[in-house]
Amino acid sequence: MDRTSLMGHAPAPLGAGAFLQARDPRHLLGLDGVPPGSLLDLLESARRYREKLRTPRWSSDELRGVTVCNAFFEDSTRTRVSFELAEQRLGAMHTTFTAAGSSLSKGESMLDTLRVLTAMRVDLVVVRHRSSGSPKFLARHLDAGIINAGDGEHEHPTQGLLDLLTLRDAWDGRFEGRRFAIVGDIAHSRVARSAIFGLVALGAEVVIAGPPTLIPAEVDSLGAEVAGTVEEAMRGADGVMALRLQHERMESGLLASPGEYARVWGIHRERVALMRPDAVVLHPGPMNRGVEIAPDVADGGESRVFMQVENGLAVRCAVLARCAAALGEVS
Ligand code: NCD
Repeated sequence: MDRTSLMGHAPAPLGAGAFLQARDPRHLLGLDGVPPGSLLDLLESARRYREKLRTPRWSSDELRGVTVCNAFFEDSTRTRVSFELAEQRLGAMHTTFTAAGSSLSKGESMLDTLRVLTAMRVDLVVVRHRSSGSPKFLARHLDAGIINAGDGEHEHPTQGLLDLLTLRDAWDGRFEGRRFAIVGDIAHSRVARSAIFGLVALGAEVVIAGPPTLIPAEVDSLGAEVAGTVEEAMRGADGVMALRLQHERMESGLLASPGEYARVWGIHRERVALMRPDAVVLHPGPMNRGVEIAPDVADGGESRVFMQVENGLAVRCAVLARCAAALGEVS
């Protein structure tokens, strides 16, 4: 039995968590339902942190006295490292817990594990878990602020914010009238869901494309348009995001082969040429080069992949600062 699982892996329903976080700003559970003004405030705060972070060896004591636990029940590179670095730059006390090597293997439940951690007076828990809805569940049961670092197929709000910041720069701050394509495995993608909620709230148009088996059934309610081909999605767009093929979340039989996928849905140079001349290419990482994105596109002039990573650190500073301020413990 998999003791880390909480409640199955179906995507959480729309609106899951939005009410809870609106009442309690210590949490960031998702971008669904976050008002445009709050999104823009977070982006502006992140932009200011980005300036500071560009100063060599910058650090502050803004989060002095705040204890943060990064609880990663699922693998991560950039999200985990950028949360850790953001916490260090802002002077928080922090610790990282990964499922491997913990008492989860001895049968302890996720909730009990996190109760143990919060009993050590943790103020904020950054959580990544493969069960959709687990951050909301924790927000209900733990006396700590909860920041969602990716829950199953539901949301990945700090990724959504870093994508918005990257597009805000590329689009000179104007989201209205912009058209953004998201291509690939939408059904399993918390990255796509958070990006769609954020972009639609700020007035951009989102068009999604991918193998029909990987387009979620509830797509209409997400507020995005569905295109039949990648060419249709990208023609005239102001940007595109290629999603990673999530082998670990896929039941077998949803796809022919990676080679076939690259041919039909991959973002390659000829397809990039269909977009507007100043359009940008995003990828949340980790990239499967040669599958969802061609190597020359990943490294090309339109690519903002490493800008996304820089923005990720700044966004995590902004989110930690906002949630910590709501604890009432920050001077
Ligand atoms: C994503 C994730 O884990 O949700 N990666 C990330 O956080 N940048 C996307 C993925 O795994 O494909």
